[in-house]
Amino acid sequence: MDKHQAQIRINKLRDEIRFRNYEYFVLDKSEVSEAVRDSLKKELIELEKKYPELITSDSPTQRVGSALSGRFKKVKHLTPKKSLQDAFSSQEIQDWHERIQKFVLNEQIEYLCEPKIDGLNITVIYENGIYKRALTRGNGIEGEDVTHAVKTIESLPLKLAENIHIEVSGEVYISKKTFKEINEDQKKQNKELFANPRNAAAGTIRQLDPNIAANRKLNIFLYHIGVNNLHSKIESQNNELETLKNLGLPVNPYAECCKNIEEVIEFCEDWNQKRENLPYEIDGIVIKVNDKNKQEKMGYTSKFPRFMIAYKFPAEQAIAKILDIIVRVGRTGAITPIAVFTPTLVAGSVISRATLHNQDEINRKEIKIGDTAIIQKAGDVIPEVVEVLKNLRTGEEKDFKMPENCPVCDKKIIKEDGEAIARCINPNCPAQEKEGIIHFVSKNGFNIEGLGIKVVEQLLNNGLIQDTSDIFTLKKDRLLSLDLFSDKRSENLLQAIEKSKIIALNKFLFALGIRHLGEDSSQDLAEDLSREAKNKNMVFEKEVAITEISSDQMSFFAEEKPKKNIEYIPVSKLLELMIHKDLEHLLSLDGVGDKVANSIYLWFNTKRNQDLLLKLEKNGILPSIETLKSIKTELTDKKIVITGTFSSLPRQQVKEIIKKHKGKVMSDISASTDYLLCGENPGSKLKRAKELKIKVVNEEEFLKMIETYQ
Ligand code: IVH
Repeated sequence: MDKHQAQIRINKLRDEIRFRNYEYFVLDKSEVSEAVRDSLKKELIELEKKYPELITSDSPTQRVGSALSGRFKKVKHLTPKKSLQDAFSSQEIQDWHERIQKFVLNEQIEYLCEPKIDGLNITVIYENGIYKRALTRGNGIEGEDVTHAVKTIESLPLKLAENIHIEVSGEVYISKKTFKEINEDQKKQNKELFANPRNAAAGTIRQLDPNIAANRKLNIFLYHIGVNNLHSKIESQNNELETLKNLGLPVNPYAECCKNIEEVIEFCEDWNQKRENLPYEIDGIVIKVNDKNKQEKMGYTSKFPRFMIAYKFPAEQAIAKILDIIVRVGRTGAITPIAVFTPTLVAGSVISRATLHNQDEINRKEIKIGDTAIIQKAGDVIPEVVEVLKNLRTGEEKDFKMPENCPVCDKKIIKEDGEAIARCINPNCPAQEKEGIIHFVSKNGFNIEGLGIKVVEQLLNNGLIQDTSDIFTLKKDRLLSLDLFSDKRSENLLQAIEKSKIIALNKFLFALGIRHLGEDSSQDLAEDLSREAKNKNMVFEKEVAITEISSDQMSFFAEEKPKKNIEYIPVSKLLELMIHKDLEHLLSLDGVGDKVANSIYLWFNTKRNQDLLLKLEKNGILPSIETLKSIKTELTDKKIVITGTFSSLPRQQVKEIIKKHKGKVMSDISASTDYLLCGENPGSKLKRAKELKIKVVNEEEFLKMIETYQ
């Protein structure tokens, strides 16, 4: 990019940042996350670094803090409110630690780590122990007087335990649950929705009518003591939290002392996993040097205290330039347009592609090749484009149009009426075959370690396999002729393939890649088949070495034995059973609706698939029903409702464990509920469970229940 192009981009970035900042800080209704604003700013900073002569005093990089909304009385802070430096990776935490160690002659530094509440920074002043005033941070020098709104926070005492003058700061926030309720309310009243709990908290605090604030259940955690006339000096951050607590002020219960920087990094990583279980949102960890003497030695830069840093969890959103839009042919022939962009770090991993779903989506979001896009990845969700920043367009962006023919087999692409998705309907399309194989060997199917996309491609391209059944006849000498394979790697792969031959029936069915047959419906079908197979004496036993059993199944055996009997249904018998199942029977299964039933029926009655099944049998595949009958624990067949958060497991994992134990997770308490699984901060479900005399199980008891079969 030359200077002229840089100037154009800089101007556009500045306008966009100003607009997004205005939305976020003043209107409290920003649609994009802080991470997006951070990414825009980062690009601007980099360009300004490259061309310092283009920096102007009004550039958003030249100012700290937020604009004031102008609706409230402005009051000067007793002392200016600094902000914190950010760290975005463990490396940056480590670098910071090394920088500040120099100020204390490399002495060991102990840290206090606190969840970084994603709320609104507020300073509260007590005089003679009585609540006097509350201010927003504002621009750091002056804040807005929000005394009335903050007074509605029930957890904030209006009188302290001691008769002192004190200035304290903390974070006002709204719980995830209240946020949902507020938005439901906004919807009912045809009012604009809040983008996140932080915006809802900010909007509520700035309500001129304290009654509205009171109804919206604000909350607060305090973490800092400012000007004060306390009787004793505060020695450490830990001591500061203790003091706040002793005064009767709410502090976050999850603050923890870490003896060294390694423990700090572990704490951060740990909370990145656990944060979804908290009833409120946190966006990082604030790391503070614990000892106040050391803090003093480190002092301040012009903007920040040196002794604190805000570690921000990997951003779930970022911006990236769309370099191209390509199409992918999926396992079922679905043609999906995919945006290809400059590799960008999102939620801890580098992303260079995101699905655009279909042409309608592209049209709706007005996406063009060359656009700068906001990309998003939340949890294990596949990355997607949230929106494009039209203001950053140069005029050189190009429209995308779906191809008329399949890019792989060149047959016509069909889009049926009323369907959003276009498909290649050629059953012999090589792309579909490849995707089918990738699905077959994936974690929830045959789970063959070492058979990733690249390997599958090489095996197909070199004619070592044509379909999934060929995987089981691979030979070492053929593998060694491929680029990717060394002696060790070939052996490992062949071993993994051998191990995968004994496969739980439900996983086997799922691996076949029958359209619409998901993991749950595969499980339902597997149970139905194993019942029928038993009645018809189609279940056989075989003694196998324990090493032949995949690690996944291994965990179901309490004690290790060198040999084990497994029960299995021969593939040809499965086929026989399936061919005789009519649609009506399939529809009677628990998780099987119209679409699934039709698709299963069609799959098993197609000659090509029948041949494949027989080949799989010939190649030694044994669909086992061992795991299906062996699990019976206290959770099996029980209806379970979950409330609150769990310190040792994310809620999603709790659900998965219950499912694995064949329990049913229900959303609401009713008379037929067997257990209420109750974590910390339970909701109203606990009360209801008690009323209905339903057994309440706490986290410890739950962990005991699943001890043998994790
Ligand atoms: S200490 C000099 N501790 O994060 C400012 N801040 O990115 C001292 N925040 O402005 C702040 N939780 O609004 C601190 N436990 C915590 C926090 C916390 C959230 C916010 C606060 C601050 C921002 C800095």
